[in-house]
Amino acid sequence: MVANGQNPKTIADCLLIANEQLMAAGIDNPRLDVRLLLAEAISKETSYLFGYPEKILSNEELGHFQMMLNRRLKREPVSKIIGHKEFWSLNFKVSHDTLDPRPDSETLVEAVLENVSDTTQAIKILDLGTGTGCLLLALLSEFQAAQGLGIDISDKALAVAQENAVSLELSNRSVFQTGNWCEGLEHGWDIIISNPPYIGLDEKRTLSPEVLNYDPDLALFAEDNGMKDYQRLIPSAAAILNKNGLLVIEAGQGQAEGINTLMSDAGLVVSSPKKDLGGIPRACIGRKSV
Ligand SMILES: C[S@@+](CC[C@H](N)C(=O)[O-])C[C@H]1O[C@@H](n2cnc3c(N)ncnc32)[C@H](O)[C@@H]1O
Repeated sequence: MVANGQNPKTIADCLLIANEQLMAAGIDNPRLDVRLLLAEAISKETSYLFGYPEKILSNEELGHFQMMLNRRLKREPVSKIIGHKEFWSLNFKVSHDTLDPRPDSETLVEAVLENVSDTTQAIKILDLGTGTGCLLLALLSEFQAAQGLGIDISDKALAVAQENAVSLELSNRSVFQTGNWCEGLEHGWDIIISNPPYIGLDEKRTLSPEVLNYDPDLALFAEDNGMKDYQRLIPSAAAILNKNGLLVIEAGQGQAEGINTLMSDAGLVVSSPKKDLGGIPRACIGRKSV
């Protein structure tokens, strides 16, 4: 790696020079990105970088790091480069066929836990548009006697979800199946969770290159200002919930009110949406009372 005439050899050199390169390319707060990439390139934990800043890296390690840095300079997200991302303190494989799990979506898991007091019950959980399986598998890690089904229209995403279930040792309680929202699914679910595509087509130009160029369109966009998939799935999900069953749906900014209307039109009793850390109503909550 050669940058501005500097030839990095140590961990400290790499961190410094790569940080400068990413900043010069207009990437905000690159420090964490650089640490994650370098740790992956040398197959160590990020804590190792702090402990051994003077460690001289091999040419092979430097070459691997430079290759990863070049991808980040083209605005590919770190998670897609290193192939995994943390969600709910669990490690998830990601690919170009899956949406990267977002911290905002952890609000849905929190909303479920706040609304279902007994986590020991042998309940049935359905995740519509499962992607990496992050929502379903996070819930199964909390509800230790529960069984879950993850549905997605993308077979490639489902293959990633299945791998995640195996690596998290949850494959004995989860099934992943191709499907179009609730089509063909039977009644009998205690919890239904979903983070469907909800970005309006006219919002494309507001997205960062990391999202627009590297998350699959199938996971991002919905017609009718982003409301189309909510309209499709909420009435059918409400119909297959058990009595007292809970429906928790992720909302885009400004969409919670419309989702709540769809939920109450479908006969659910709606509670106040749970806000994410940015104060945006993120998890819409409906319960079936009859
Ligand atoms: C926003 S992503 C959410 C992924 C994951 N649940 C998460 O929270 O990170 C939406 C997911 O819905 C899937 N999807 C899109 N249309 C669908 C449909 N008609 N039926 C089932 N899944 C669909 C996409 O393939 C994508 O994996």
